Amino acid sequence: MQIFIDSANFKEIEQWLRQGVIDGVTTNPSIMLKDGVFDIEEGARRLCKLLRDRPVSVEVTTNDPKEMVEQARVFADWARNVVVKIPVITEDGQSCLEVINTLVREEVAVNCTAILSFNQAILATKAGATYVSIFTGRIADEGGDPSVVVRNTRQWLDAWAYPSRIIVGSIRSTMDVQNAALAGAHIVTVPPQFLTKMIDHKYTRETVRQFNQDAEKAMLQIRQGQVA
Ligand code: E4P
Repeated sequence: MQIFIDSANFKEIEQWLRQGVIDGVTTNPSIMLKDGVFDIEEGARRLCKLLRDRPVSVEVTTNDPKEMVEQARVFADWARNVVVKIPVITEDGQSCLEVINTLVREEVAVNCTAILSFNQAILATKAGATYVSIFTGRIADEGGDPSVVVRNTRQWLDAWAYPSRIIVGSIRSTMDVQNAALAGAHIVTVPPQFLTKMIDHKYTRETVRQFNQDAEKAMLQIRQGQVA
């Protein structure tokens, strides 16, 4: 399973890249805004450089399918590792599958985003999306069981050998990461604050403290000449 970081915060991304656990980045306009990246082109180019050959998802900022295609072509020219995020439908419920299919035929990598059902994942895959982003937190917001959607999608992709990869996004807790991993996500995109929580454990701290204290005691005994 791959781990992407769901962020546009350069410092945090660099920090997690150095630890060797990050396979890509996902952003959306809300994340960019929150992380102070107001110029999408400048931010995306910088992120793509930082990530080298790892994928960086950048979302279109229009609700018009024709403009989505135009924007996506521009984004794709910024760097080789740009992946263009296209919502599965517009805010009015219009299908974006044609947009996805047009771009994929032009060899633009597409992350079909805001997927909240197995049916949407099926159609996005059929249209050729490179990635299908299932928003598990938002599925749960609506009273749905996100693990069922992820598991069904993964079983169906495997059964028919489709190449689309599931990204689980909308992570709201560290438990969501584990659930996504076990349900069959190819990729989980994790906000930095949950990566920090995933690595930590108070009893691990205590365990390490105990070992360090005993190592110090042993060194003291050597220094005091108490070792034969
Ligand atoms: C990732 O690709 C998504 O844009 C992101 O995880 C959405 O998260 P949210 O549902 O918390 O906005």
